[in-house]
Amino acid sequence: MIPHCDTDYLERRNEIGPKLVIVMVGLPARGKSYISHKLRRFLSWMGFRTKIFNVGNRRRVADAGATTHDATFFDPNNARARELREQVALDTLEELISWLKSGGKVAIHDATNSTRVRRYALIHRVSQEPNISFMFMESICTDPIILETNIRMKLNSPDYRNMDPEMAIADFKARTHNYEKAYEPLGDVEEQLDVSYVKVFNVGKKSIAYNVRGYLMSQCVFFLGNMHIADRVIYLTRHGESEYNREGKIGGDPPLTDQGRQFAAALARFAQERHPIAPACPEKSKADSTFGGGGGGQLQLWTSKLRRTVETAQFFDEQYEVTTMRFLNEIYSGLCEGMTYDDIEKVYPEEYRTRQANKLIGRYPGGENYMDVIERLRPVVVELERLSTDVLIITHNVVMRTLLAYFTGMDLLEMTLLDVPLHTVYCLKPKPYGVEIVKYRWNKETDGFCEWDRLQGREYGSRVNLV
Ligand code: F6P
Repeated sequence: MIPHCDTDYLERRNEIGPKLVIVMVGLPARGKSYISHKLRRFLSWMGFRTKIFNVGNRRRVADAGATTHDATFFDPNNARARELREQVALDTLEELISWLKSGGKVAIHDATNSTRVRRYALIHRVSQEPNISFMFMESICTDPIILETNIRMKLNSPDYRNMDPEMAIADFKARTHNYEKAYEPLGDVEEQLDVSYVKVFNVGKKSIAYNVRGYLMSQCVFFLGNMHIADRVIYLTRHGESEYNREGKIGGDPPLTDQGRQFAAALARFAQERHPIAPACPEKSKADSTFGGGGGGQLQLWTSKLRRTVETAQFFDEQYEVTTMRFLNEIYSGLCEGMTYDDIEKVYPEEYRTRQANKLIGRYPGGENYMDVIERLRPVVVELERLSTDVLIITHNVVMRTLLAYFTGMDLLEMTLLDVPLHTVYCLKPKPYGVEIVKYRWNKETDGFCEWDRLQGREYGSRVNLV
């Protein structure tokens, strides 16, 4: 019997526990928006409806006619501007609360919220709402390199568009100076009020958590503790063609075909050319070996436990340590393992239709659905966030879809329909506000890879055409 799923799993997931408001705190250019986007992507991927409410965007609209604001607007002694800024922050909160009441689960108030007066006003308003919990999240950054990079990124802000870059930077520094005059970091006062908070230092290097309670808050703190901004590359590919692929059967544990083995050999050449064995570096190896691998700090190789991915890694030089993990196995199709789609439709017509209608929640008898796969991939995603070395993951169709959805912020239902062809390597470079993806396709005739498609610097959450 198929486990009965007459309720939308996502609905049920969003019913658990109170809703959550996360209020960002911190001076400009401390990475608040970066953290907000990362959190939204992670929580949305887990199925929680999450939305960011950016106060800066509303500020520009609210100030009749003004499309930009210079540093004087942020001077704490500028009474008219201060009043407007407080009002916009509260209006944004109203909008956020309405969204939560109409079905949202986690709302992020993205602003500096750097004074106690502002924060009291926000807490006071949220405390009038039943079943909404509240957490401050302060981002503190003292690393001069990160700060400089963040400030440079501000040149893309609407406030500075069309402005000479040097003038823009000078104005932004003056703005920050104005904020510093009134800045009150989180601390004793919030503890006396028993408000939940987390302070994140230098993009996750250190965090302090106070009164963090419940599943959602804990997930946020746990996740942020693993982030970093070092450059690295994540390669994702399905295994080489298997015998079941050729026969149109799903699941199972088949070996590769000759063509699949040929792809495997080409893959090893492709990856080894880009990542030749580096001289051993024991420190790095130790630091990055939670999931095994990491020998010498060169490319890590991860496969599932299934024969077709293990065989796809077989042509790598033995100095590349291969880590096999069950987390990366293909979706389990229960009684339908080894069947063709036509057979499944004949033998289990109702289950087939239910699954076709919604693969996030629909299962074959005794098998997994996509939400189960997301659940079991959570430790892999957290490990990928933590890891600063390059990694090649050889896995399966559904795992690829799920990981690509995580990195691009794609809608989950859309994810279940994504076409991820065999013999194609997706090269992902996570960036502060998006991910760059280059796809390489193996050409059987030339037995080499060629660049097939390039998706530059997409915003997380924007529609990404990965086909
Ligand atoms: O066909 C290859 C495969 O990896 C199967 O093993 C798996 O069941 C299937 O893809 C998943 O795709 P879908 O969810 O679209 O049926």
